[in-house]
Amino acid sequence: MQTSDAAVPGSDAPVVLELANVAKSFGAVLALRSGTLRVQAGSIHALIGENGAGKSTLVKIVAGLYRRDSGELRLDGEDVDFATTAQAKAAGVAVIYQEPTLFPDLSVTENIFMGRQLTGRFGKIDRRAMRHEVERLFTRLGVAIDPDRPAEGLSIADQQVIEIAKAVSLDAKLLVMDEPTAALSGVEVERLFSIARSLRDEGRGLIFISHRFDEVFALCDTVTVMRDGAYISTMAIADTTPSELVRQMVGRDVTELFPKTEAAIGEPLLEVTNLTSQGVFHDISFTVRAGEIVGLAGLVGAGRSEVARAVFGVDGYQEGSVSMRGAPVRRGRPVDAMRAGIALVPEDRRKQGLVVDSGVGRNITMAIRRGLARFGLLTTGMENNAARVWASRLEVKAHALDTVAATLSGGNQQKVVLAKWLATEPDVLIIDEPTRGIDVGTKSEVHRLLSELAGRGMGILMISSELPEVLGMADRVLVMREGRITAEIDRAQATSENVMFAATHASEQHA
Ligand SMILES: Nc1ncnc2c1ncn2[C@@H]1O[C@H](COP(=O)(O)OP(=O)(O)OP(=O)(O)O)[C@@H](O)[C@H]1O
Ligand SMILES: [Mg+2]
Repeated sequence: MQTSDAAVPGSDAPVVLELANVAKSFGAVLALRSGTLRVQAGSIHALIGENGAGKSTLVKIVAGLYRRDSGELRLDGEDVDFATTAQAKAAGVAVIYQEPTLFPDLSVTENIFMGRQLTGRFGKIDRRAMRHEVERLFTRLGVAIDPDRPAEGLSIADQQVIEIAKAVSLDAKLLVMDEPTAALSGVEVERLFSIARSLRDEGRGLIFISHRFDEVFALCDTVTVMRDGAYISTMAIADTTPSELVRQMVGRDVTELFPKTEAAIGEPLLEVTNLTSQGVFHDISFTVRAGEIVGLAGLVGAGRSEVARAVFGVDGYQEGSVSMRGAPVRRGRPVDAMRAGIALVPEDRRKQGLVVDSGVGRNITMAIRRGLARFGLLTTGMENNAARVWASRLEVKAHALDTVAATLSGGNQQKVVLAKWLATEPDVLIIDEPTRGIDVGTKSEVHRLLSELAGRGMGILMISSELPEVLGMADRVLVMREGRITAEIDRAQATSENVMFAATHASEQHA
């Protein structure tokens, strides 16, 4: 149902931000067709939609990073047209991106006061006043970070909080968070949410972008759905359901989220024995068999990604061994791991694994090219074919195969890296957070694909922080906590309770 009134009926708080039919093209790509949104003071407004729906583009227009081609944009009722991010900031717009942009060498306080130092008498920089102000801010936000320490080495979560503190000290009236929780642990998400709620209660307007419905329902008051660059609807969170939102996002019913199919489990492929990397993980042993999906669960920071990186040879390890079909795989050599038939789809796909200034097609065939071109087996025709097949299986939304990867939406970049590794047709696929940043419609497609690959005999090690995904997909669940495997649970026995328990409690022998 399309309504022209994007505000929630019944609420009469002032409107902080209003967009009406905002459009933006990049060359032939119409990124935003008709962006419409009304954010009220004292509310947290979710902005949701499939990968490539235009959410980040809309936000970047509000932030002064892009300039709109047409449409209306009002802040506090006044027409605005920001030519720079500085103008948007000065008008009271603050945007927290997934990857914060602090200066690592500067202190926390210096970062917060970047570009507008407090000066005392005689124009001298008043460090004490600035420090005092930061302490006051942190107390108000309930944050325990040393204002004097350098930004370098702070967790992503702490860096985001500092960006928020900066926004608050600038008295931002609108705070936008574009997928802020992707790299956060549960506790960190809770802290972020409580800060967001207190800013809402102070009467600011907040926009929250996320692919996680549990977060949207826990945090937000209002939700606006976008599809294909256009406004679809706005509803009060209390008046809607996850399945209704999915339907509006994808324009059809998405029924089964985790279509697990049973596959025959065969011989052992990947065997990891007593793997230890001092201070990172300890005594890790497990086997992945043909046709089997092994889930690796645990909290963020438990050491799961580190194990994956060591097995694939990106990082080294001190003790233990890795073998494939009984043959040892040399440590610290990804090329050897690839030859042995192992592929690793990393967690941070944009940073590790995407050549942003290359085309989509080139990116997808990059890893097979490395394997095949040497033997003169890969023609341009074959290459284009492979790229087309994988791009369409994962529903990569790109204008053409030679579209530069940098211009894809966040989730579509994730899909390209996924396609790149699936195209190598490995025997064992290690996949770190397979559906992070990926929209609900494609999520079930990724799950279907993983099931199908396992059905054809691939062994899959799936690291995931989403319990429903682990419980839905895995034949066996390994749980890690503080660098150790604390439990191994069969599919039939796995429940969210026992997986969470193992993820948060030391097991008997290590207690
Ligand atoms: N600088 C750019 N040049 C060309 N096309 C772009 C550019 N920025 C965005 N696009 C295109 O605009 C569309 C919308 O992208 P946008 O990043 O706004 O999506 P999104 O809703 O944030 O998706 P996601 O959930 O994956 O982050 C995509 O098709 C994308 O490829
Ligand atoms: Mg985005």
